[in-house]
Amino acid sequence: MTTARRPLISGNWKMHHNHFEAIQCVQKLSFRLDKEDTERADVTVHPPFTDLRSIQTMIEADDLAIQLGAQHCHWEEKGAFTGEVSPAMLAKLQVSYVIAGHSERRQLFGEDDEMVNRKVLAILAARMTPILCCGETLEEREAGSTDDRVRDQVRAGLAGVAPDQVAGMVVAYEPIWAIGTGRTATPEDAQATCATVRQVVGEVAGDDAAAAVRVQYGGSVKSSNAAELLSQPDIDGALVGGASLDPDEFALIVQSIPAP
Ligand code: PGA
Repeated sequence: MTTARRPLISGNWKMHHNHFEAIQCVQKLSFRLDKEDTERADVTVHPPFTDLRSIQTMIEADDLAIQLGAQHCHWEEKGAFTGEVSPAMLAKLQVSYVIAGHSERRQLFGEDDEMVNRKVLAILAARMTPILCCGETLEEREAGSTDDRVRDQVRAGLAGVAPDQVAGMVVAYEPIWAIGTGRTATPEDAQATCATVRQVVGEVAGDDAAAAVRVQYGGSVKSSNAAELLSQPDIDGALVGGASLDPDEFALIVQSIPAP
């Protein structure tokens, strides 16, 4: 049985674009996307924190069919956490999706599975949708432990999350060796691991959640490889880094979603 899952294409800008550049980028993107594109898929942009208010204002004023996302947050509501931003602060800016556990946060900023899980729970408590990231290193892939790694990350990230909340979540499978390297997993490999993600979700939260959860692939997605990746049965969308900085390229990725 297949459940129609709404595709989700997310642009993770990382530490790129100041708020002026961000406005230009989203404006161009909105011109490039047709009504049919945003009727068929959810499109999110995840700019740096300093851009969020500007983009929120523009989305509201121009009634754009683009949703706002964030790249990170803390799990506490408030407190003495210099440099951090709370889920409630993001929700107040109409942020709908927050990335949790991106490999760059795990590798460069010491986020571990427990922290990622706390973030997932906090994002849900603030009524936003977490995009829980998982993925293996090159060494893990070569050692044949991709599935174990991804299973562990997904299980840990979803600990304590109610099945109906898991159903509304997004899990992004991003092999670390494919991020920003120009190397992409083959559609078959990406499909196989995304199917594993769905299987683990089923083990953790039941069949309904597994059928409903949206699984994205990420790692050097561009317009030239998006169609093949997005046509895989267990790939419901893409988490796009570098290519999302170019509105033409990002729009082409959205337009690569195969017709239902
Ligand atoms: P990339 O980044 O598309 O530049 O490989 C993907 C990501 O890190 O989410």
